[in-house]
Amino acid sequence: MERKRIRVRVNGREVEDEVEVRLTLADWLREGLGLTGTHLGCEHGVCGACTVLVDGRAVRSCLMLAVQADGAEVRTVEGLAEADGRLHPLQEAFLEHHALQCGFCTPGFLMTSLAFLQENPEPDEAAIREALSGNICRCTGYQPIVEAVADAAGRLRGTAQAAG
Ligand code: FES
Ligand code: FES
Repeated sequence: MERKRIRVRVNGREVEDEVEVRLTLADWLREGLGLTGTHLGCEHGVCGACTVLVDGRAVRSCLMLAVQADGAEVRTVEGLAEADGRLHPLQEAFLEHHALQCGFCTPGFLMTSLAFLQENPEPDEAAIREALSGNICRCTGYQPIVEAVADAAGRLRGTAQAAG
């Protein structure tokens, strides 16, 4: 089996590894790096549970090969909270709006929402629903998730204003 050396920045940390060329990014993150917050549901691009950011864009890591991430910047759900454990505003909003039950889908929703809010800091409800339409949740229902993302948008704007 052919192997290739890759170098990827994962959650701010430079990682070098030698991987089998057909290994998916999801499997590398989970099994190679132990970042099991990235979940695998369907493994064929339908459920969104495996969503991570690659160079700031939301991608389905079950559909991407690890070797394709060579030289890229990857952010997983483990990279959301601060080093001291403080939750990201999106995570806080999901918590407060009860936007999760089993939590299986949650990493994908969080990462999809993060990429979306970076591009659309003031979305209306329809835009949020559209952005999340490729992510499937089997237990919570979508209303609290949409509310959480709308709330997080406001929190992130507040943080940006305070910083700017
Ligand atoms: S596991 Fe990747 S989209 Fe479902
Ligand atoms: S919270 Fe269980 S699948 Fe979404």
